[in-house]
Amino acid sequence: MAEKTDGKRIVLVTGATSGIGKAIAATLASAGYLVIGTGRRARPSDLPETIHYEIMDVTDDASVAEAVQKITNTYGYPEICIACAGSGIAGAVEDTPLQEAKAQFEVNFFGTVRVVQAVLPLMRARNAGRIILIGSLAGRTGMPFQAFYSASKFALEGLVESLRHEIRPYGVEVCLLEPGDFKTGFTGARRKLAREGSPYLARFSTTIAIQEHDEQHGADPSAAGAAVLRLLRMRKLPLRVSVGPLFQRAAIGMRRLLPDAWFEAVYRIYYRL
Ligand SMILES: NC(=O)c1ccc[n+]([C@@H]2O[C@H](COP(=O)([O-])OP(=O)(O)OC[C@H]3O[C@@H](n4cnc5c(N)ncnc54)[C@H](OP(=O)(O)O)[C@@H]3O)[C@@H](O)[C@H]2O)c1
Repeated sequence: MAEKTDGKRIVLVTGATSGIGKAIAATLASAGYLVIGTGRRARPSDLPETIHYEIMDVTDDASVAEAVQKITNTYGYPEICIACAGSGIAGAVEDTPLQEAKAQFEVNFFGTVRVVQAVLPLMRARNAGRIILIGSLAGRTGMPFQAFYSASKFALEGLVESLRHEIRPYGVEVCLLEPGDFKTGFTGARRKLAREGSPYLARFSTTIAIQEHDEQHGADPSAAGAAVLRLLRMRKLPLRVSVGPLFQRAAIGMRRLLPDAWFEAVYRIYYRL
């Protein structure tokens, strides 16, 4: 039996138990959307009551299909989908077992694709829908010692660029929100794949310490919530929008203007490589 939605627009937010997803879900619920957040675990006790909740593991076909079916039966079709679920691994390419690299893609890339494939038919059938994927500025320029995380976010860039053309005739839009550093649970949840005796170990340790310091001094996740609200109020969704510390967004802008060798030199100095 469908719950009364009072004509509210229904939003599905994956990865809503923590950090950026939780902040986006809270912002949209405060703004009058009917928000269903999802995560792998049971509903966290500190999730605002304004957010409805369902379990969804984005790496599991059945879990995604069941959650989307349950949401549709209970509330109606999600007109908006924010795909936030994600995690990070770090380590030298040479030290990273392939199964870890594949698992990274299974969450950040294929997990996102799974959710997109589950909501698209519902949106297409109604000729209306908006999908916002959470990429990263690390998907615009490779982060040293986070090659597989960066690659999984680069892959989302290609996905969105292609998908926009495919779904436009059906009234469905997709956009990539690219956060810079945010202070969330992401840093603590990162899997560090440092191999004992690795020739990369010392440089890896220095670089990851700088990166994690920047994350923990990064933007407040509420800024991502405000950015999504701004996007949803736009007449048309742009291809990509960045959010987070200004100097990081400016650096990515410069990336396009500077010769590669200059940009690499800046990174070598900044990350003490
Ligand atoms: N923080 C940053 O500096 C930063 C920068 C750029 C991009 N991002 C991106 O922003 C997104 C959100 O990250 P965050 O910073 O908010 O990190 P976070 O606080 O660790 O939150 C990650 C969320 O993803 C969920 N998740 C992880 N694996 C999942 C899976 N297999 N199935 C379903 N949900 C899963 C987690 O749910 P559980 O409760 O189930 O663990 C949690 O809700 C990610 O895509 C990340 O790559 C973050």
